[in-house]
Amino acid sequence: MSTANDMAEMPVQLPRNPANAAEGRSRYFNSGNAFNIKLPPVPGHIFLDEPAQAMKMEKTGFINCDQSDKMQCSFAATTPLMLARYAVVKAGETLDTTLINTASIWYVIKGKAKLVVGAENASLGKADVFLLPGGVESQITAEEDSVFWAVGNDPQLKFDTSSPVTGKDAAVQFVHYPADEIVHQLDVVYGSNANASTSGHALIFSAEKSEAARNITPTMTLSLNTLKPKSEQPPHKHNSAAITLVVAGDPAYSMVADQKCDWSPWATLITPPAAKHSHHNDGNTRAEFLIVQDGGFYYHARTMGFEFY
Ligand SMILES: [Fe+2]
Repeated sequence: MSTANDMAEMPVQLPRNPANAAEGRSRYFNSGNAFNIKLPPVPGHIFLDEPAQAMKMEKTGFINCDQSDKMQCSFAATTPLMLARYAVVKAGETLDTTLINTASIWYVIKGKAKLVVGAENASLGKADVFLLPGGVESQITAEEDSVFWAVGNDPQLKFDTSSPVTGKDAAVQFVHYPADEIVHQLDVVYGSNANASTSGHALIFSAEKSEAARNITPTMTLSLNTLKPKSEQPPHKHNSAAITLVVAGDPAYSMVADQKCDWSPWATLITPPAAKHSHHNDGNTRAEFLIVQDGGFYYHARTMGFEFY
């Protein structure tokens, strides 16, 4: 009888004599073999081809920033819990934006369009932000050639095989943040004294339904960060992954895990969980960048792990 088996080398343990199908579906592992699956790390990356393709306006549709292969993920994902995508809607055409997520956060890169969300609608223009509830029928019809950037928690729902809750129990409602209102609200922030621990001014987007948590959705946060000319945000880290859209900054760059990522218009920068990072504005104009993080998730779990270096 062999007793020298290393528990880490043991295969899955099966039930001996299952009395029925439910017992037959049970499986057992041990403390040696259950936790030794090595997942590849979340790649730090700056997406340049996807925005370039979107700006070419070849056809109406989505262009995903997909890193699922590198993360060994069986569904489209930019980070384990979030998917970033560009959306192109050619003038006169309509894009179905009904998505399977809790919500998606949208930014209008260029164009003019009409948005219908369930029984509501809105006119969209450049630099508007809007929040789309998942599972609610929505569509964008472009009046001019339009390009959008959107981040949703689609992978989170795929991972858990869950579907969005709609109606009165929905976590998220449709919210529109028009560009001129964003400029005004950011001016209000600029009019206040900066906190000594931050070198930049940021506008944090929230919504009526999530005001108490100061998030935009239960798991995601949205921040419009700015850096004055010739300034930088010092190196720091957090356990949330960040997906950043470059809005303005010439020249500007980010350091992610000691790798320099030069900014270019409408690029999407990925900051992996717990990676050291900093943002730098070398130019003579204000740098602006829109950051979506799965921060709500980590705040709730008390595992944000924010630290300056
Ligand atoms: Fe950060």
